Amino acid sequence: MKRQLKLGVIGAGFVANFHLMANTMVPDLEIGGVFALKGAEDFAVKSTAQGRMQCQVCRTIRQLVEENDVIAMFAPNYTRVQLMEELVEAVQNNGKQLNGLICEKPLGRTIAEARRMVELAKSTESPTAYFENQIHMKAVQKALIQLLRLQKTAGPFTLVKSNEEHPGPHEPWFWNPTLQGGGVLSDMACHSIAQAEYILTPWGFLPGFLKPVAVQAETTLLKWGQPKYRAELLERTGVDYTKTPAEDFATGIITYRNPSTGGLVKTQFTNSWMFDKQGLRLSTEAMGPGYGFEINSLRSSLEIFISDAAAQTIGDAEAALEKSTASRGLLTVQPNEVDLYGYVDEQRDALKAFCENHDALLSWEFGLHITRLCQAAYMAAEERRTLDLTDPDTTRRLETYRSAISRGEGHKVLGLVV
Ligand SMILES: NC(=O)c1ccc[n+]([C@@H]2O[C@H](COP(=O)([O-])OP(=O)(O)OC[C@H]3O[C@@H](n4cnc5c(N)ncnc54)[C@H](O)[C@@H]3O)[C@@H](O)[C@H]2O)c1
Repeated sequence: MKRQLKLGVIGAGFVANFHLMANTMVPDLEIGGVFALKGAEDFAVKSTAQGRMQCQVCRTIRQLVEENDVIAMFAPNYTRVQLMEELVEAVQNNGKQLNGLICEKPLGRTIAEARRMVELAKSTESPTAYFENQIHMKAVQKALIQLLRLQKTAGPFTLVKSNEEHPGPHEPWFWNPTLQGGGVLSDMACHSIAQAEYILTPWGFLPGFLKPVAVQAETTLLKWGQPKYRAELLERTGVDYTKTPAEDFATGIITYRNPSTGGLVKTQFTNSWMFDKQGLRLSTEAMGPGYGFEINSLRSSLEIFISDAAAQTIGDAEAALEKSTASRGLLTVQPNEVDLYGYVDEQRDALKAFCENHDALLSWEFGLHITRLCQAAYMAAEERRTLDLTDPDTTRRLETYRSAISRGEGHKVLGLVV
C-alpha cells in the first residue's frame, strides 16, 4: 500500500494557495506539479520552497497527469467540465491509473454539470474526494466527538444553523452569475448546506444518509444592487449588476427525513456577500435534545491593536484573516486559518482514503447531492414556494434546471434595490 502520493493541481489562484499552506502540514501528500493559465510559476516557486519536492510547471494536463498520482481541480467553476474532459482523455491515452481525483466545491454549476463530473470520474476508475473543508473543521469534529454519548442516549441533532458570510469575493468571475453559476448561494451555500447536513447525520451513518424532503429559500440583492455599490462593482470587476445581477444574500431551510426513524430534522443556512464586518465569519449552531454547540470563527484567542498612526505601515490585512476589511483598530487574527477552516484535515482524509484505494469521506457523489440541494434552493426562491423533493415532477425538472440568475436574468427574481 502506498503511503506517499504526488499531487498535481489545476489552478494556482486563491484556493490553490490556501491548499499550498495547508499542505505544509500534510507531509505525505507532496505537490509535484501545477497547471494553470496564470500564477503557475509563482505557485511552483512557493511550493518548491517548502522544501519537500520540486513542483513542476506543467504546460498541459497530459503532462500533469503523467507525472502525478492525484489530480486536484482548483480552477474556476466555469472550467470544471471541460478540464475534466481533457483530464479523462489524458488518462485514457496514457493508460494511467490515478490514485485519486479531488474537486473543490461546487462540483458543478448545475445538476447536469455535477452529474457529468461524476460520470467522467467513474470512467477513470479513480477514487474521488469532494473538497468541502467546513466538514473537516476541527471544531466540528471535536464537538461531534464530545457529544457522541449524548447523541446515543438523548437522540441525534434536530436543528443545525450554518452560515458563511463575508464582504464579497476576490475575483471578478465570482460576481458574474453566468460564469460562476449564480451569486452567494451557488458560491457559499454549498458549504453551509453540506456542513449542516453532516452535523445532523446521526453518528455512525455516512454523509447522504438523511433524505432531503423539502426546501425553502430566498435570494436577495441587498447591498450590491444599490447604485453606489453597483458602480463600484462595475469599476472593480467589470460586472454590471444593472444587466446581470446576482444575489448577495441567501437563506433557506432544508427538511430531511431520517429513513430509519421517519423523524424530520432541519437545517437552516444563511450566506452573504454583504457582511461588512471584520472579514470572513463561519458560524454554526447545532441543537439536539438537551444539548448543543456553537462555533464562531471570528472569536480568536489572539487580538491585536493597531493605531491610526501605525496603520500606515501595515501592508497586508488579509494576512490576519481571510477577506479582512480593516487594518487598524482592534483586529481579530487567526494564527492558523487553513487548519481552522478544515483544509489540513480534508487533505489528510483524501490522502488516507486514496492510499487505501477508496473514496474520501466526501465523494463526488456527495458533491452532486449538494449541487442538487443548491439548485433546489434556487428553484424554491425563484418559484416562491416550498419545494417538495419527494414529488417526481419537481425532481425531474431539477435534473435540467438552470436558475434565472445563472442565465443572466437575475432581474426577474431579484428586481433591483434602488
Ligand atoms: N473551499 C473554499 O472555501 C474555497 C475558497 C475559494 C475558492 N474555492 C473554489 O475553488 C475554485 C477556484 O477558486 P479560486 O478562488 O482559487 O479562483 P481564482 O480565480 O483565484 O484562481 C483560479 C486559477 O485557475 C486558473 N485557471 C482559470 N482557467 C483555467 C483553465 N481553463 N485552465 C487552467 N487553469 C485555469 C487561473 O489562472 C488561476 O490560477 C472555485 O471552484 C471556487 O469555488 C473554494
